Amino acid sequence: MHTKIIKIDKNNFKAEDLKEAASIIKEGGLVAFPTETVYGLGANGLEKSSIKKIYKAKGRPSDNPLILHIGKKDGIYPLVKEVPDLALELIEEFWPGPLTIILEKSDLVPGIITGGLETVAIRMPQHPIARRLIELSGVPIAAPSANISGKPSPTSGRDVIEDMDGKIAAVIDGGPTGIGLESTVLDLSGEKPMVLRPGGIGIEELRRVAGDVGQDDSILDKDKLPKSPGQKYRHYAPEAEMVVFKGSLDCIIESINDYVKESPLEDEKIGIMATDESKDHYSKGIVKSLGSREDKRTIALNLFKTIREFDRIGVDVILSEGVKLDDIGMAIMNRMMKASGGKSIDC
Ligand code: TXA
Ligand code: MG
Repeated sequence: MHTKIIKIDKNNFKAEDLKEAASIIKEGGLVAFPTETVYGLGANGLEKSSIKKIYKAKGRPSDNPLILHIGKKDGIYPLVKEVPDLALELIEEFWPGPLTIILEKSDLVPGIITGGLETVAIRMPQHPIARRLIELSGVPIAAPSANISGKPSPTSGRDVIEDMDGKIAAVIDGGPTGIGLESTVLDLSGEKPMVLRPGGIGIEELRRVAGDVGQDDSILDKDKLPKSPGQKYRHYAPEAEMVVFKGSLDCIIESINDYVKESPLEDEKIGIMATDESKDHYSKGIVKSLGSREDKRTIALNLFKTIREFDRIGVDVILSEGVKLDDIGMAIMNRMMKASGGKSIDC
């Protein structure tokens, strides 16, 4: 299959520019598109045969459910049994944006979307291209991240093309995404709201609106069984081996320097994911800074991008500095720990 690349300026486009992509979705094909978090791989979310193509293109296990993306807040009503007051308050506060909520599904939602579960994940993205595409398609768009299953999520058109060229009808290249990691997945189907996957919205922000919000034990502990099916699979994984270093910055720098000193690998085979505060303190390896420790939003934005850059260079190992868990730090550490397969060194 030839994959068409449609370049669009997210700040300056017309509905006309998205017409072809919307037709592909309507006719049952796959289109990758930018959202404010990461690129999504979209299909008509109400049609089984289209959704099947997503699983095939990604090589995704069929028990890993997809998120339905809607263009308007009230698009949620036909998709769920009931919208509780708490969901309405969260929607009012955080939609459009990087919050996915899970509720009991209606009969309209095909079981293939939910991996057989009775609940469905729904989000209203903020990105202008994503919203306009949903509107023009006239259906909710089912979209996982547009990477091959197990790889880091794509944050640019180039990343998507690397993974999906020849497998899907089109990629809308709308430039780099704004957040760089995925939405927060919040389960509202139980007694207490639970974060199943930390993401673009921190738990402190959710608690300000929803009060008592819990989080799944497996978010940072690979030995706990996750409640979200997708979280049990190896994910975000680079080709290279990856190790995360946790503790105070001084101690992290010392440990990484000890590690590289003892490593038999040549300089260009070692990647160090550092921060602005530490990047000049390493004696060996290719050092890339994710940004300042004072600015976790930038670190989040650069995380998957940098992992993919190290893979392009072809390093054998990526040594990554951990960060504190506040705000989006929980999501950053969750992705780093999954990418490393749980391999970490506590300083
Ligand atoms: O930011 C995002 O959320 C991106 C963009 C494209 O919107 N999408 C994304 O989708 O990250 P995906 O498929 O890569 O991740 C969806 C996560 C998976 O961990 C999946 O298991 C979980 O949401 N999920 C979906 N439906 C669920 C459900 N009914 N119950 C529990 N977890 C669910
Ligand atoms: Mg994903």
